[in-house]
This record gives sequence, structure tokens and C-alpha cells, in this order.
Amino acid sequence: MGGFAVVGLQWGDEGKGKITDYFAEKADCVVRYQGGNNAGHTIVAGGKEYKFHLMPSGVVQGKKVVIGNGVVVDPTVLIDEIEELRSNGMEPDLMVSDRAHVIMPYHRMLDGAEESLLGNKKVGTTKRGIGPCYSDKVARHGIRMGDLLEREALAEKMERIMPIQDKILGIYDMKVDPEGIMEEYLSYGERLRKYVDDTIYYLNSIIDEKAVLFEGAQGFLLDIDYGTYPYVTSSNPVAGGICTGAGISPKKIEKIVGVSKAYTTRVGMGPMPTEEKGEVGDYLAKRGHEFGTTTGRKRRCGWLDMVALKYACMVNGVDSIAITKLDVLDGLEEVKVCVAYEYEGKTLDRFPSSIKILEKCKPVYETLDGWDGSKGVRDYTALPPNARKYVEYISEKLGVEVEIISTGPAREDTIVAGS
Ligand code: GDP
Ligand code: IMO
Ligand code: MG
Repeated sequence: MGGFAVVGLQWGDEGKGKITDYFAEKADCVVRYQGGNNAGHTIVAGGKEYKFHLMPSGVVQGKKVVIGNGVVVDPTVLIDEIEELRSNGMEPDLMVSDRAHVIMPYHRMLDGAEESLLGNKKVGTTKRGIGPCYSDKVARHGIRMGDLLEREALAEKMERIMPIQDKILGIYDMKVDPEGIMEEYLSYGERLRKYVDDTIYYLNSIIDEKAVLFEGAQGFLLDIDYGTYPYVTSSNPVAGGICTGAGISPKKIEKIVGVSKAYTTRVGMGPMPTEEKGEVGDYLAKRGHEFGTTTGRKRRCGWLDMVALKYACMVNGVDSIAITKLDVLDGLEEVKVCVAYEYEGKTLDRFPSSIKILEKCKPVYETLDGWDGSKGVRDYTALPPNARKYVEYISEKLGVEVEIISTGPAREDTIVAGS
């Protein structure tokens, strides 16, 4: 047994929830290792649609689910998700790391205030307080889930950090009531007490015997180190983030599956070389229902970007990929794929670190014939020949096996290679 992972290779919303749910059937435990409720993962199973922001997607398969130390937890959201599962007759078998940092009300306030100050240069965050919470973690001013379990520990922590928070909030003419916050968060601690534990010892105690699936949130191009900085999130969705975000040795991760849509989407600001602002973009947005799961914002859409995808496969070290939403390309006469960038007369085959350069990159496209009728197909040989050619083209260009092709939101709309 051992660890295996599902990670997003683009700017998020690749369909990680669906692919995690698929693999969760074979897993004993499903773990989130980074991000927070900025994520929105959708699973469609048994004719029902589930949307999770914090809860690992394996919960729909009734598996043990773990929120690792690298996640930032908004307890109000976690409590809501637990309640929602209960109202659907499911009792989550959940463990939350005592080291996971807590999103406090002032984190949400600061997220909004910083974005307003940035004006048209804003990141376009989800305003869930993710960035400010990770900033406090790194600055050593954070509150952790374990702190919510003990009045004295929380009081001591808050006494230490509130003078700093007060000053920071003061810059934006904002104030909070520390006493009120403390009582409120102690009450969340009480409600979540039975789930909070040392997940690091737990995961290491089972990983050799059991199948542990790590579920990425966000996508590689939103990674704080590898993405389009500063238009990124504040954590490491990259597969390497599993080690720090769950307390697992890299030696224990045996397989990494990268998830990519058959095209590209992005929510929020920042460069996206293959963005299509006209008819094609609208077609993809409409057919793909490209509206954010978390904020409802319209996602920007465009052709598949192989320069970005190759970079993502390299750094994540993916063993195979899952291509989702192939059906969304149905009905197009031709399908384009970006194979390089043109920048100031030069051809680039590497994803640049500078967004100033990336913003000026023009995609170099190869064009393939389109197809119709892939929606809901569950057998590789039943796919339209041009759709198969597209999949094989991607696999060949990346030098990576395509393990899964998804042709619809439902669990059953899934083609598994070799089956
Ligand atoms: P995640 O954040 O990576 O888990 O992805 P989201 O759930 O935010 O967005 C993916 C959306 O596409 C969801 O609404 C899914 O139900 C839907 N979806 C997933 N796979 C497919 C597919 O193959 N075809 C279609 N049409 N929709 C899909
Ligand atoms: P899932 O897990 C798509 C984007 C935001 C913004 C940037 C920073 O569903 O793929 P943040 O609130 O994290 O500080 O915002 O990151 N973003 C996502 N985009 N899917 C997500 O999650 C995202 N989580 C954050 O839109 O551009
Ligand atoms: Mg999403």
C-alpha cells in the first residue's frame, strides 16, 4: 500500500473532486494537505451533487478523511459541511490536524481590505482569508486548531498576538473584539473537539498498510512557488506540498495523478496566454458551466496550454494524467493546442517565471480536427476517432500516459485506460 495523489495541473477547477472521488473507492483514507475553503470540489454521485470546500472528497465514498497540518481551517465552514453531510444521512469519519492554522475573522477582513487597496491590480482572491492566515502562520502569529481546545492556551496566544493584529487592522481603520472572538472560537473548538488530533502520527501509522490518497486543492499554476506569482494562492498545491502539508516522507508517495481539463480555465486575475475572449471562450464557458464553485465568478476560458502543462507534469512528477471535460469540446470544427509561446520574435518552450514576460507571450497553436458526441461515453473505443486522436496527441506531447478520460460530471462518465 502507501500514498498516492491527485493534483491539479492548471489554475484550479480541473475536476479534482470528481477524480479524487473515483480513486477514493480504492483508498482507505483521503487527505487534504493545503489550501482552505478557497477550494470548491464538486462530486456527482448517485444522481446527487456534492460541493465541498474543506472536507476531503473521499467523504462521499464513506472513507476516513483527514485535514492535514498544511490546511487552513475556517471552523465555521467545517461545521457547516459536517452539518450538511449529516442532513444527507452521512456521518463523516474525520480527523483534523491540531497543527492546522485557523482562519480568524480578521483574516477575512484583511483579505478584503488588501484587495480593495490593490484596486485594479488585485489578485482576485476568494476573500476567504486564506492569504492573511498563511501570512500569520509564517510570521508566527497564527492560531492553530489545537489552541481552540483549551481556554488558557487560546487566551495566552491571543494576548500575545492581538497587539500586532490591532496595529495591522488599524492601518485599514478596522477593529475587532478579541474577547468576543475568543468565546466564539472556543465554542467552535468545543464542537470540533472530537475530530482534532495528531494527524501526522496517525497518517504515518497507517501509510505502509493502507492506501492513503492525497487530494490537492487549487492547481499547480496557482502554487505560491511555481505559479504566476503574485496572481497565485498562498500554499503549495504541488505534489511536493504533500510532504510538508501532511507530514509524510516523499519516499511514501508511490503514484501521482495529474488532472487537466481538455482546455484551460482560470478564475481571478493574472496572465493566461491561451485565454479566448470571443466566441470560443463563450462556447467553452457555456458548455462547461464555467462558473466558480466557491465564488460563482465566471471562469476565463481558452485552449489547452501544453507549455504550462509540461511544466506542471515535470515539477509534480506525474505518473499519469486524467483529462476531464473532454465532452465540452464536442461540436467544435477544430480544436487548438498551444505548443509554444512567441515572445518578442523568439519561440519559448518554457513557462517563464516573470509575469511581465508571460503577459506578452502569444500562443503558437497546432490545430486538430474537432468531433462531436463524446459526452457521456464510457468506453475508449466508443469515443469519436478525432477525440481519441486529441487524447493521444496530448499524451504523446507530454510523454505521460492518460489514465482517465472524463466525459461528464457523473462518477460513471469516466473512461479508464485499458478497461
Ligand atoms: P475541482 O475544484 O478541481 O474539484 O473542480 P470543480 O468542481 O471546481 O469544477 C469542475 C466542474 O466540472 C464541476 O462542476 C464538475 O461537476 C464538472 N465536471 C467534472 N468532470 C467533468 C466532465 O468530464 N465533463 C463535464 N461536462 N463536467 C465535468
Ligand atoms: P479548487 O481547489 C480556482 C484563485 C482565486 C485567486 C487566487 C488567490 O476548487 O481548484 P485565494 O483566495 O486562494 O487567496 O485566491 O487563487 N483560487 C482558485 N481558483 N480554483 C480554486 O480551488 C481556487 N482557489 C483559489 O480565484 O485568483
Ligand atoms: Mg474548484
